[in-house]
Amino acid sequence: MANSQKEDTNSDGNGHLFDVLDHYRNIASKYDYFYKENHQGYIPILMKCLNLKPEHVVADIGSGTGAIAKDLFELSGLHNPIWCVDPSVEMQEVARQKKGVYPIVKTAEEFFANPQIRERFDRVLATISAHHFVNSDAVYKGILRSLRSGGFYVQINTVKSSLPSFKGVKKLLSQCFEREKEISSPLLRVIGLNANISHQEFSFSAAVTKSKLYEKYRCRFLSLLQYLSDDEIEEGIRELENEYYQNVTNDELINYEDTVLVTRAEKVA
Ligand SMILES: C[S@@+](CC[C@H](N)C(=O)[O-])C[C@H]1O[C@@H](n2cnc3c(N)ncnc32)[C@H](O)[C@@H]1O
Repeated sequence: MANSQKEDTNSDGNGHLFDVLDHYRNIASKYDYFYKENHQGYIPILMKCLNLKPEHVVADIGSGTGAIAKDLFELSGLHNPIWCVDPSVEMQEVARQKKGVYPIVKTAEEFFANPQIRERFDRVLATISAHHFVNSDAVYKGILRSLRSGGFYVQINTVKSSLPSFKGVKKLLSQCFEREKEISSPLLRVIGLNANISHQEFSFSAAVTKSKLYEKYRCRFLSLLQYLSDDEIEEGIRELENEYYQNVTNDELINYEDTVLVTRAEKVA
């Protein structure tokens, strides 16, 4: 876990991937617990947007612990496990224990460089992971190549949350939400001509106890929090406590609403 301010290595592809892998190594064992509320919100949206049939061959890119894949596999009665592509060994260790998951320890860039997956999939999805693509042009081209005609790609990005955040993270979070809105631009540029692309926003309600919310911050559940020191996180939690949650007990639920942008690209014949 980071104890001091880290340098932002976003400008350097490899440095950035190293930081990202470091982050997911640290939270892998608690990821499903931290993201349970999000996953419960995403599943009905994905079920609606993916329109899965049991015979479909599906790939989940940046699949993390495979929690989404497991639910989609079971709810849709898929005949084949979902190809779960993620470069984090530790996240994949958690994923491989789940039913309906076929783990592939690779970045999206490495996975789509393989010519053998041409026209292999009916559906490709990426849930809150596309912001990690280092070379999004290559990934989106690869996704289009890997889809069968009439198949489609569904991407989910969080663009708003009603949960209050503290000063140290507000700016980072709003930049992140702005970036998430922009994330489909390369997709439009790279595969727009060969696909029908649509965008739709969905909101869902969720609730988290105060103690879990503070634990999530302390464990840096969001990758952007790795750039804050322990002292900055504690200061942020004190700020939340004073401004919003003084009269909320540790076990009490805090209700909030998240909004996601769903981008759907259907490959045309
Ligand atoms: C926020 S998690 C999302 C996991 C899962 N999709 C979910 O909704 O819970 C982002 C995931 O993207 C993965 N990731 C990071 N860089 C990647 C890359 N270049 N290609 C594919 N996945 C990547 C991380 O290892 C991490 O598991």
